[in-house]
Amino acid sequence: MNPVEIIKKKRDGNELTESEMEFLLKGYIEGKIADYQMSAFLMAGFLKGFSDNETKILTEIMMKSGYIYDFSDVEGIKVDKHSTGGVGDKVSIPLLPILVSLGFKVPMVSGRGLGHTGGTLDKLESIEGMDVFLSKEKMYEMVKKIGGGFGGQTENFVPADKLLYSLRDVTGTVESIPLITSSIMSKKLAEGIDSLILDVKCGNGAFMKSFDEAKKLADSMFSIGEMFGKKMVYLITDMSQVLGEYAGNGCEVYESLKLLKGETENDLFKLVKAIAVLLMEKNGIGESCEDRIAKVKDVIKKGYAYETFLKIVSSQGGNVEKLKKEDLFYQKSVEIRSDKDGYISYFDTYKIGIALIYMNAGRFKKEESIDHKTGLKVYKKIGDKVSKGDPIYEVFVGDKGYDESINILKNSYKVVDNKESIEKIELIKYIKGV
Ligand code: URA
Repeated sequence: MNPVEIIKKKRDGNELTESEMEFLLKGYIEGKIADYQMSAFLMAGFLKGFSDNETKILTEIMMKSGYIYDFSDVEGIKVDKHSTGGVGDKVSIPLLPILVSLGFKVPMVSGRGLGHTGGTLDKLESIEGMDVFLSKEKMYEMVKKIGGGFGGQTENFVPADKLLYSLRDVTGTVESIPLITSSIMSKKLAEGIDSLILDVKCGNGAFMKSFDEAKKLADSMFSIGEMFGKKMVYLITDMSQVLGEYAGNGCEVYESLKLLKGETENDLFKLVKAIAVLLMEKNGIGESCEDRIAKVKDVIKKGYAYETFLKIVSSQGGNVEKLKKEDLFYQKSVEIRSDKDGYISYFDTYKIGIALIYMNAGRFKKEESIDHKTGLKVYKKIGDKVSKGDPIYEVFVGDKGYDESINILKNSYKVVDNKESIEKIELIKYIKGV
């Protein structure tokens, strides 16, 4: 087979066969297909689309590109959650120890930052010594002994996604329903879980800007999950402003720790709680919604979730003592203040994500290292009252991209005189599967 012919076939909008896709993907993993050819293929697929059958084949080839976990001898319900990505979306970090404390087993596999969005792996690497690339044996041990672990794609576990994910990140080929579906579902299906909840983001900080697009993506992943026998749930949630208060890497771990210590009641907490409750409901745990909520609150109040997080971090090589004491983000900061009285009507959350990349909290090139201590705090939510001089952002600055990021952030929000004209934001817009 000839890679150029396959690229041209997709470029011209034709459906590929399983063997053509296998040839291209396996060849890429083995280093026989160059980055430029895979980039051309991804762009052709991005522009011309993939059929449902091609998406299923792509997912399956990627899932089988490395080993697949088998936790059948581990007692308990194995679950996971995955988000399609956003700005300040740190849900996975507090959620995993909460789920473990509730009795679930959670072999979570996440990714690095993608496009303008942050990635759980980058965030966790703000913790000194934290190893997020767990071997098969290590993840197995974590799930068996503690109840869960934070892992990533490796050369042996979904290597196809590891390679494509970083290539898509720098070739403008992220926002594609089939490519996101195959990326997310290949990882999740290889985890050996029983049940999966998807948090599909929608809004200007998400890859899917509209509700209809987000629903198409959610339905695509949901049906692939069910095809492979998983108990599926999804939520479509808002990403038209930063989730919680912080966006960056170290500062998001800081906010996650606050949540686990019971010090946060904001939108982040509401979403974490809702996801845990839905997973319980889907898997027959708890008597009623109130009972499930009480259970989530209880594992936080009693410190179980916080202690579980520290145990997981320590088992993955993270320095827990330093984590408890050290600043996870730069204390040198700059405030951006409102220049008028009124109400916040809008955030350009995509721009906020781009400002974070300029600050080196994310990457423009795939080999770039990041500065985990840069980031920002957002003081306001859409609809909040502001007075002239009130801080909108506190920016934790490092050495890189100061001028660019501050300029972008200054133009990333709007203040209007009249509260009535502002569209009300619904955090959770839709739920399917329970
Ligand atoms: N998250 C993933 O794991 N993959 C994508 O393509 C997008 C979000």
